[in-house]
Amino acid sequence: MAASSSLLFTLLLVLLTFSDSSVQTLGLEVGINYGQIANNLPSPARVSYLLRSLNISRVKLYDADPNVLLAFANTNVEFIIGLGNEYLQNMTDPIKAQNWIQQRVQPYLTRTKITCITVGNEVYKTYDHQLWSNLLPAMQTVYNTLVNLGLDKQVTVTTAHSLDILSVSFPPSAGAFRQDLGEYLHGILNFHAQVKSPFLINAYPYFAYKDKPNEVPLNYVLFQPNQGTMDPNTNLKYDNMLFAQIDAVYSAIKAMGHTDIEVRISETGWPSRGDENEVGATPENAGLYNGNLLRRIEEKQGTPAKPNVPIDIYVFALFNENQKPGPTSERNYGLFYPDGTPVYNIGVQGYLPELIYSSATTNNGFSICSLLVLAIAYLISS
Ligand SMILES: *[C@@H]1O[C@H](CO)[C@@H](O)[C@H](O)[C@H]1NC(C)=O
Ligand SMILES: *[C@@H]1O[C@H](CO)[C@@H](O)[C@H](O)[C@H]1NC(C)=O
Repeated sequence: MAASSSLLFTLLLVLLTFSDSSVQTLGLEVGINYGQIANNLPSPARVSYLLRSLNISRVKLYDADPNVLLAFANTNVEFIIGLGNEYLQNMTDPIKAQNWIQQRVQPYLTRTKITCITVGNEVYKTYDHQLWSNLLPAMQTVYNTLVNLGLDKQVTVTTAHSLDILSVSFPPSAGAFRQDLGEYLHGILNFHAQVKSPFLINAYPYFAYKDKPNEVPLNYVLFQPNQGTMDPNTNLKYDNMLFAQIDAVYSAIKAMGHTDIEVRISETGWPSRGDENEVGATPENAGLYNGNLLRRIEEKQGTPAKPNVPIDIYVFALFNENQKPGPTSERNYGLFYPDGTPVYNIGVQGYLPELIYSSATTNNGFSICSLLVLAIAYLISS
């Protein structure tokens, strides 16, 4: 079934490609954050179609939404799933952790590639010290449960931090964690080293620019040609802020005695709209940031301090999310509007089908019949 559905999918792609030469498919290494704080998003079955038409095969969720995991059954799309901060307390209890994995993860594993669980998100951005204390025990308990169930080779465990866990981020070689987090991060780093899971950072050069638009050169944050900055300790040259931030995290980890942990970017992005005081939130800047970043990912670039380790990045986000609280920018990080049209052009165009006849619960997600209907609908509409 899987083989025939992928053949049909290829056939459909060929049809679409020949019917409209502007539809491109690229082999995208980039991952994408599939946030769902909205009331107008397309069904997961349609989103699965959109992502495959974009050739995006790495997705990060903030929960373990069964509808999404089912809609991507028998695809080669791989998932990072999430346990929200509200679960941390319970996840320190081995019985509750086992129940969660047996109910929310294990049943989907045979058909949907789930490779990683993030336990908590930006925990140290809160000032909830109970949460801080629960983070490591929750990560350990979830990991031990995976070991007991024989799933630890398939699924790894980590958490995602915001960049403000750093007290020094420039120059990159001087990167250091906040003093108040020392005792907590020490244990977390040992955990990463022991289970060999990546250290995830949500990093937004946009925030640095927005806060100091007169000091931070726009071209430096947008990966556009610019003078760059020099790290006086290493003589390494940085032509963009994101790479400097990644290397600052490597330095902070090294300062705590670890050279054995990989840093990855679990979120980065740029808003296409913002309030009046949110300088730089425009579709032009968002298009440059994400478009330039995609090119560097495709070139498998490493950072100046780790030139041989290709950057590993999940862009935030797939869709604009109309129910996110906060300033206007928060609702405008999407690459796509909920109807599947791109918010700005970054040289990749996907296809969100109008019609999905089969439900996401069928074995392969769509039938021959629905494929033909889709192809015909597309040909008529173009
Ligand atoms: C999709 O991406 C993979 C690599 O990630 C590449 O090998 C493949 O050719 C791409 N397919 C299309 C249709 O672009
Ligand atoms: C934590 O466990 C308690 C007791 O089993 C349950 O009532 C509560 O809903 C759980 N919390 C979450 C966020 O699942």
